[in-house]
Amino acid sequence: MAILAPSLLSADFSRLGEEMDLLDESLCDYIHLDIMDGHYVPNISFGPGLIKALRPRTKKVFDVHLMITEPERYFQDFDQAGADLITIHTDATIHLHRSLQEIKDLGLKAGVALNPGQSLEEIKYVLEDVDLVLIMSVNPGFGGQSFIPSALEKIKDLKALRDQKGLNFLIEVDGGIKLDNAKELLEAGADVLVSGSGVFKEDNPKATIQAFKEL
Ligand code: DX5
Ligand code: ZN
Repeated sequence: MAILAPSLLSADFSRLGEEMDLLDESLCDYIHLDIMDGHYVPNISFGPGLIKALRPRTKKVFDVHLMITEPERYFQDFDQAGADLITIHTDATIHLHRSLQEIKDLGLKAGVALNPGQSLEEIKYVLEDVDLVLIMSVNPGFGGQSFIPSALEKIKDLKALRDQKGLNFLIEVDGGIKLDNAKELLEAGADVLVSGSGVFKEDNPKATIQAFKEL
């Protein structure tokens, strides 16, 4: 069954504790935490302090998506805050392979992310070193953007590459995912769907999570 990772970025920040409890009681698998530094992406979100404060509220997997330059400077902080999985962007770090290794050396799962304009070629030589590949289906920085359709082809190509190499990393897709386009992403080969506004901007987020899981 596919993994659903609601993104806290679209939650009501004035009542984050309650939003977290809602996710904890829901059928979601991961909780996607979008970290933005105002440098790699134009927006600023939150940091390890907030994650640490939320950690005791749930045992669900904390899927930390670092949209920050030089992410390696903060791996320890996110580890200590309670991250389970850390995903970094290929073009945010100088030594991608070393950075992925550093995440794994902390005992965490390591993910690598590609933006819509980037090719699979960029991650070809680290595929054996990652637990997850994140295909961005919007340009990173904001919730609530429209899905970029070329992501579908990239997911299919990545799945074929994974089969060809006999690897078993997860394929995660992030950006513009709602109930009405989730199915075609799963059919294309996605294992993990991230959804921010597609969950939190619905009238009943918990029921929406259930509907995602029933797809
Ligand atoms: C975008 C973030 C996404 C975002 C998704 O930079 O990485 O995780 O929260 O939000 P929606 O689902 O609203 O596109
Ligand atoms: Zn994200």
